[in-house]
Amino acid sequence: MKAITVVPGKAGSASLDNLSEPAPAEGSVLVDTIAVGICGTDIEISSGQYGWSPPGHERLVLGHESIGRVAEAPASSGLAAGDLVVGIVRRPDPVPCYNCAVGEWDFCRNGQYTEHGIKSLDGFMRERYRSEPEALVKVDSALGELAVLLEPTSVVAKAWEQAEHVGRRATWKPETAVITGAGPIGLLAALLGRQKGLAVHVFDQMTEGLKPDLVSAIGAEYHTGPIEQSVPDPDVIIECTGVPALVFDAIEHIGSGGVVCLTGVSPTGRELAIDAGLVNRSMVLANEGVVGSVNANRRHYEQAAEALSKADPSWLGRVVNRKVPLDDFADALGRRPDDVKVVLQVGETT
Ligand code: BGC
Repeated sequence: MKAITVVPGKAGSASLDNLSEPAPAEGSVLVDTIAVGICGTDIEISSGQYGWSPPGHERLVLGHESIGRVAEAPASSGLAAGDLVVGIVRRPDPVPCYNCAVGEWDFCRNGQYTEHGIKSLDGFMRERYRSEPEALVKVDSALGELAVLLEPTSVVAKAWEQAEHVGRRATWKPETAVITGAGPIGLLAALLGRQKGLAVHVFDQMTEGLKPDLVSAIGAEYHTGPIEQSVPDPDVIIECTGVPALVFDAIEHIGSGGVVCLTGVSPTGRELAIDAGLVNRSMVLANEGVVGSVNANRRHYEQAAEALSKADPSWLGRVVNRKVPLDDFADALGRRPDDVKVVLQVGETT
């Protein structure tokens, strides 16, 4: 079967390969992959900056944002042929640590977790894969192929949950949220913020095109200037770029008692001059919370499924702005300026 694989650590190594069928040991449920979304992490892996292949293998099958259709499943799995499913990215560490032991693999304590398409487990950019039922989330057939957005939405569902947890250390009545970055994570974070009834302001560099349109279509405001000029003292900032200067900008401009949730995985090795005393002093004197958030557990996938089912399908359809056939994977891995979510079409559409 066809698959897109990479040699982690080696830039430009992505290729279309012919792999053998998934081994029964991978799990009792056989899934035909329909589509796989591409995110910044895939681009980092394919450019040699991130990623780990499975033990004993040179190559890693790429892809962690999937939607597929069950081809066969044991009756005991609660799944049946034809069901639409999304593969959960992270699997618990084998020890397991006390978080992984209770299904909170997104808070793995010892770093021995694995992630499909990222860390030591093959991903979903292949025509078929096998999984244990507990690593699959069944999605509403009405959502169809748009469920390819479930994984990135699970990541922002967790980020919101983290911000709210920190906010609730005192009376918490948030009104205004800032989202930095209008990529898929930023847009989905904005969608959830609007669904929570907040006034949402999205900041990005693009001055025109799809991103501003998508932001205004959900009733949020789009900005290209500095945060402090347009939104003084926001209650929540979800930082979705990982750009170091924007991270500190967010910390500097959060309102008193507010929470900044950091979701972007930054490149390393770039230095930035900051007044660390000022950052510390303002955080302490205003009870500011800064929390990092990565990945998602099953609860967040469920929250994400609910959020996507409440969203306008035509808006979600516009977020997926480019669909590329599997054979043209190199085109999908190359970023275009107005790209939002690029999706690789692996199998038959829904
Ligand atoms: C994925 C997460 C993963 C993280 C770090 C993100 O792109 O969506 O599931 O935990 O990368 O590897």
